[in-house]
Amino acid sequence: MSHNNSPLLQAINLKKYYSVKSGMFSPKQQVKSLDGVSFTLERGKTLAVVGESGCGKSTLGRLLTMIETPTAGEIYYQGQDILKHDPAAQKLRRQKIQIVFQNPYASLNPRKKVGDILEEPLIINTHLSRSERKERAQAIMDKVGLKTEHYDRYPHMFSGGQRQRIAIARGLMLNPEIMIADEPVSALDVSVRAQVLNLMMDLQQELGLSYVFISHDLSVVEHIADEVMVMYLGRCVEQGPKAEIFNNPRHPYTQALLSATPRLNPDARRERIKLTGELPSPLNPPQGCAFNARCRRAFDQCFEVKPALKKYHDQLIACFAVDREEGLLEAIKTPAAG
Ligand SMILES: Nc1ncnc2c1ncn2[C@@H]1O[C@H](COP(=O)(O)OP(=O)(O)OP(=O)(O)O)[C@@H](O)[C@H]1O
Ligand SMILES: [Mg+2]
Repeated sequence: MSHNNSPLLQAINLKKYYSVKSGMFSPKQQVKSLDGVSFTLERGKTLAVVGESGCGKSTLGRLLTMIETPTAGEIYYQGQDILKHDPAAQKLRRQKIQIVFQNPYASLNPRKKVGDILEEPLIINTHLSRSERKERAQAIMDKVGLKTEHYDRYPHMFSGGQRQRIAIARGLMLNPEIMIADEPVSALDVSVRAQVLNLMMDLQQELGLSYVFISHDLSVVEHIADEVMVMYLGRCVEQGPKAEIFNNPRHPYTQALLSATPRLNPDARRERIKLTGELPSPLNPPQGCAFNARCRRAFDQCFEVKPALKKYHDQLIACFAVDREEGLLEAIKTPAAG
């Protein structure tokens, strides 16, 4: 299908600002939920997006799936600008990029049977006959581990894990290439998380799917990611191949997140860094690096200027302490001298 060498999905400097009013008489303020995020996603790969609650992960997911339009930035699907108001391009994008949400209790219509839920996208987007739709729905049900007799059942008759299988099946009905999964296992019992993750990985293998996998939980991401992007207050602070991020995290925020994460490999023990304080309000972001108040390595520059992402080997890192380590910051005042 691909007619050029462009990446499957590319986002450039995506921003989403919301206008909010905190009270009836207070002036409107801007929330920078997403403040300049870029990445490329290759075919068959998984980009994990991680960070604490409120850092902008779901906002990014909504932009990528066209639920909302960005305030600024560009999105390309196989080199095609998909924010362009071209109905054909937008239809293609709706088909090729699907989303699975965190809560399978809220995302499935309780009044519809599984078969109807699955066939709805086919009714809207294809000319398949009734029997062709049913055939397709049952084929996909089989792929996600649901049984034929589930076709006529209602969502409330299923467990959380099975509901998430239904949601995944619905996402697959139009043969997508990209699945945006927003915390797809966070609402599930720990005992079924691995099953759903394994299903997603099997489907990826079989169908060549690409995932943007959103999660606040690094231990989940370690199973499934190829590339990891760590976000803090609407921006990427560190990005790189999974092995680099897990074995050689360099941003103090990534280090703190990882030190709080139980690891698959107990040998990979590391110094425990306590993450104190909270994510600052995006309504009132601090000057300089957004992480400065919680950072044990912050020095004066971090309170004045926002660090830009820089490339170090395979990683992108936005941190003056790392810049300094790499000898890239010259003439820095020593922190003690103030
Ligand atoms: N429609 C909106 N209007 C105003 N502010 C919003 C809106 N949607 C999100 N925000 C704000 O944007 C920031 C990022 O929200 P977002 O839901 O993307 O975070 P998240 O990383 O997905 O968090 P979580 O892990 O809790 O799901 C938050 O401060 C949130 O309050
Ligand atoms: Mg979210």
